[in-house]
Amino acid sequence: MAHQVIRNALVYFSPTGGTRAVAKSVAQGLAINPREFDQTLPADREKKILLEDAEFVLLAFPVYGGRLPSLARDVIAQLPRGKRPAAAVVVYGNVGPGDALVELYDLCIGRDFEIKAAGAFVGEHSYSSVLGRNRPDDADRERARVFGVGIRQTLFGNSVIPREAIAKGPVQPYRVQEPRQALTFMLKPRSCEVCRLCIHSCPVGAFIGGDPKKIDLDKCIGCAACIKLCPHKARRFGDDDFLDEVALMVANHSDAKAPAVYLPPNLPEYLG
Ligand SMILES: Cc1cc2nc3c(=O)[nH]c(=O)nc-3n(C[C@H](O)[C@H](O)[C@H](O)COP(=O)(O)O)c2cc1C
Ligand code: SF4
Ligand code: SF4
Repeated sequence: MAHQVIRNALVYFSPTGGTRAVAKSVAQGLAINPREFDQTLPADREKKILLEDAEFVLLAFPVYGGRLPSLARDVIAQLPRGKRPAAAVVVYGNVGPGDALVELYDLCIGRDFEIKAAGAFVGEHSYSSVLGRNRPDDADRERARVFGVGIRQTLFGNSVIPREAIAKGPVQPYRVQEPRQALTFMLKPRSCEVCRLCIHSCPVGAFIGGDPKKIDLDKCIGCAACIKLCPHKARRFGDDDFLDEVALMVANHSDAKAPAVYLPPNLPEYLG
């Protein structure tokens, strides 16, 4: 039986904005004005996400260490269960999506969603302005929009995306998420205008006492929002070994990756 789409929800986590940009382009193609559940900031996550019966849900999360951020797992675990059509989207920094998309697929199935479409898109890497520079760019956003047009068509049919289409082989257990390095930060006091945007952009409230110089490194998830969003470029990562690792990663992944989308095969070819 075809789903009658009554309402649409967009659920995402996006500390540096790449995932949000992709999700919005997909929503544009879907021609929906979704109820938005931005789960990036602590205050956003305090509000319970209530979903309607049969509501279409677009879920979008960044890739961290070839997996989903642990916060994404928590967000999905709290979604109400129910047979709802959904699309799963991950955004990665031109290194690779690893197992994040299949992990998202599995978590969605665990909440009884029916996955009508899935996609892995590229965003500028949180740790570099070179890797995936300025992505999602116009071409990515157009790809995401057309993907949204395709998703809309799936909502009037019964097709779902089988796990094998995404997994391309057995992936359980998933790759082990690399432990996050103990990051350090450098603040250039002369550049910092104490606007506190970094503090307000931190998804885990890791700044101590409203002071842009003080970060609780045990809380920090290394998302880089406080660095990337600083209007005065006053902050950077401090650890030389970490910066060397980033430089190596940039050197090894300079070829621009293309988005990959998964839609049921019975849709017009140009959408698939
Ligand atoms: C802790 C961490 C781990 C990451 N791991 C990967 C990875 O495994 N592969 C990859 O291509 N990008 C990786 N990235 C880059 C992000 O996936 C990418 O920059 C994404 O666009 C960030 O989403 P956002 O802009 O919505 O915050 C990582 C970023 C962070 C902060
Ligand atoms: S966003 Fe930049 S300028 Fe503003 S308080 Fe933070 S470090 Fe300082
Ligand atoms: S302090 Fe850590 S968690 Fe908070 S914005 Fe900066 S990198 Fe992200």
